[in-house]
Amino acid sequence: MKESSARIIRLAEYKEPDYWIKNTQLVIRIFDGYTEVSSELTMVKNARVDGLPTLVLDGVEQTIKQLHFDDTEISQYQYSDDKLTVQPVAEEFIFKAVTRIDPENNTSLEGLYKSGSMYCTQCEAEGFRKITFYLDRPDVMATFTTRIEADKASFPTLLANGNPIDEGELENGRHFATWQDPFVKPAYLFAAVAGDLVRKDDSFTTCSGREISLRIFAEPRNAHKTDFALDSLKRSMKWDEKRYGREYDLDIFMIVASDFFNMGAMENKGLNIFNSAAVLANQETSSDDRFERIEAIVAHEYFHNWSGNRVTCRDWFQLSLKEGFTVYRDAHFTSDMHDATVKRIKDARFLKTVQFPEDSGPNAHPVKPQEYQEINNFYTVTIYEKGAEVVGMINTLIGEDLFRKGSDLYFERFDGCAATTDDFVACMQEVSGYDFTQFKRWYTQAGTPTVVVSQHYDAEQQQYQLSFSQSQKPTPGQSEKLPMVIPVKMALLNAQGDELAIDCDADFNQQTQVLTLTEAQTTVTFSGVSEQPYASLFRDFSAPVRVEFELSEAELLLLASKDKNAYNRFDAVQKIYLDTLIAMIKNGDNQTPSLVLDVVRASLADNALSPAIKSLMLALPSYQLLVDSLQQKVDADALVAARQAMKQSIANSFKAEWAELTLSLQSEQAYQFNAEQAGRRELQALTLSYWAETGDAAALDFAKALYQQANNQTDRLNGLKAVLDNGSDALVSDLLDDFYQRWHEDTQMVETWLLLQASAKGVTIDTIKALMQHEAFDITNPNKVRSVLAGFMNNFTSYHQKDFSGYDFIAQRIIQLDAINPQVAARFVTALENWKVFSGQRAEAMKQALQSIADSQGRSPDVSEKVEKALA
Ligand code: PHE
Ligand code: ZN
Repeated sequence: MKESSARIIRLAEYKEPDYWIKNTQLVIRIFDGYTEVSSELTMVKNARVDGLPTLVLDGVEQTIKQLHFDDTEISQYQYSDDKLTVQPVAEEFIFKAVTRIDPENNTSLEGLYKSGSMYCTQCEAEGFRKITFYLDRPDVMATFTTRIEADKASFPTLLANGNPIDEGELENGRHFATWQDPFVKPAYLFAAVAGDLVRKDDSFTTCSGREISLRIFAEPRNAHKTDFALDSLKRSMKWDEKRYGREYDLDIFMIVASDFFNMGAMENKGLNIFNSAAVLANQETSSDDRFERIEAIVAHEYFHNWSGNRVTCRDWFQLSLKEGFTVYRDAHFTSDMHDATVKRIKDARFLKTVQFPEDSGPNAHPVKPQEYQEINNFYTVTIYEKGAEVVGMINTLIGEDLFRKGSDLYFERFDGCAATTDDFVACMQEVSGYDFTQFKRWYTQAGTPTVVVSQHYDAEQQQYQLSFSQSQKPTPGQSEKLPMVIPVKMALLNAQGDELAIDCDADFNQQTQVLTLTEAQTTVTFSGVSEQPYASLFRDFSAPVRVEFELSEAELLLLASKDKNAYNRFDAVQKIYLDTLIAMIKNGDNQTPSLVLDVVRASLADNALSPAIKSLMLALPSYQLLVDSLQQKVDADALVAARQAMKQSIANSFKAEWAELTLSLQSEQAYQFNAEQAGRRELQALTLSYWAETGDAAALDFAKALYQQANNQTDRLNGLKAVLDNGSDALVSDLLDDFYQRWHEDTQMVETWLLLQASAKGVTIDTIKALMQHEAFDITNPNKVRSVLAGFMNNFTSYHQKDFSGYDFIAQRIIQLDAINPQVAARFVTALENWKVFSGQRAEAMKQALQSIADSQGRSPDVSEKVEKALA
């Protein structure tokens, strides 16, 4: 492993490559113990470059057997620091290489690796260089032909991108298959698979009447879990035609499920490879959340066929071009399939809980970063989710119709090209005439803006004023911040919650109800306002900003009960919880005030609320969200005490209601995953957790029965979680043993079983250590590692336990994991990097844990970059 050489890649230094690759022919010969890769790259010098520069190809851990230019062996070459340097003698040539690689020992899960019994690839971002020498950068796009050879009995299924063009038998029980991809693509979209897989087929007829063959491949024991993904795929294909006019292009679309995978899934052209956990599902083993997540990921990867593959990224600084846009697209898809408000609430909550902290921490970076050391570290919530918010704001500013026109133009103009975020915005500007110059600061400025709002009502003049002032704290490398374009979707309400007509002196769009802020300070005067109005601002979370707006109890209660914008109603309720908790923490007083109980009572009683929204409104903000909202040094112990006290008090104040609701939400309906049923189950999980919190033995009996009698995973988990949090040790271990007995042969269930324990209330490091020793655990498997370690790190009260021992434990695990899988190890550094938000010795302990990683030997560039930034 390399020590950090702190090689920094800068956007400002982007230049086109000296050579292009037009066509790539690969032969991958898989043998037991090694794999031989032959490549023939048809190359041509970049016409804009003078002379005949040396050719510098990327290649990692390549054992060179032969190198040729056309038919001439290359005798002079240099291979060091993952670069092969050779001197071409003509402007057009075929570069040929035969190399050996070692997929069996490739635990990084990048390049070609062994996943259980099969071989598969992962090339984004820079994995292809682990397969063969290449110009491994997204602006180098080629057509590919791939031939795979392997033992036929062990690996009957051989797949690569595109269409199958040939197959046949070879000597010694081996066989081959050849695939051709007619669409140009960068190497990061390459994929190949060899395995003994079961295939599930379906088909889809496109809008122009072409019949596409859909195929999902899984290991035989998982064959019964592919239907839901196939169905999601068909719905995604239809939706993309309808909403974006995007038709699928190849004749075949394939998905392969892999048990060993660093991320959720990968959009390789025509051959998506998925983490098994992100594709395999059925009612018995997958909860509603999981169904929703799988549907969204299937859609996301499918949508990449246009936003990512047909139009790709020029360089990795443009990563959000494909990811932000595609997340935006899949969110819209989920909204259309289910409940738009619920989706928006969950997305906004996720952004505030995970992205806001990133954006105020040492790894804060713009949606379009200026530099990086290790690109793997930039697959972040900022690039993905904040990037999606930025795309969403473009839609908000120009409206749905023009946005669609802009996206049509973008796909048409850049089809087959490697584009930039500027190209995307330019299309939106061209179709709308809207000047996005200032708006583009959302791509270049890191950090979350804070908008402070104040109001003034003048009864005599019948005028109402809102003053907005926006500001941004410095982020690493960016001390000066300029004002942003902030769309504020808003309404003024009267005391009945009705919306008033708006007549104001500012940039307010009557049609979309959006007020646009562009200055550091903006004062808006509304005329003809005959009574003191209630301001409903940032409806539907119209901008990813922090809002500070002091409201009276009466105002908050009105918004919480009468705002017609369901997102803002939810937000007002959350604000009541959050402000109260923050006051409790600051005052060291853990009495829950009546305001909170009033809000809970009102939400409980409101029969117009859907169960899904009700459950969102009744749930207290997470510890993580509280930490971020405090905006001061956090005393974690005080925070835990306050939230637990509030939860207790809400539980005890409405004990009868929790019991009654829990029972009434029980249903005889046959299980189906849909928004309505999922909402009911979600509310029941919540009411049950409050009920169980009261210590009522009947609640635990109910939870136990729910677990035992469940015919679906959602009910089973809801029952089990209530027992885990409140049941006796004996009952807890009974049910956990039962779970493992029944499901230990199902990988997804085992992952869930590990996660449940790691995230259970009061889990100790000893339990975590025991889980890591369990036969079900495998440190080379990212899903298992995430179940246990991420489960623990997200378990706030256990990870941040009073003796601080969680930090050093995690630091040691990061060091251990870094030697196996740097990409996954580096992600866990996130759990230490925000040490500065905590107070006193806790912060010191976290910092020391980071320091121990920094002092360890043989760190990967991935981990080094994150640790060094966190300590800087
Ligand atoms: N591009 C993948 C996605 O967003 C994510 C991914 C990145 C997967 C890197 C693997 C490696 O869908
Ligand atoms: Zn993606």
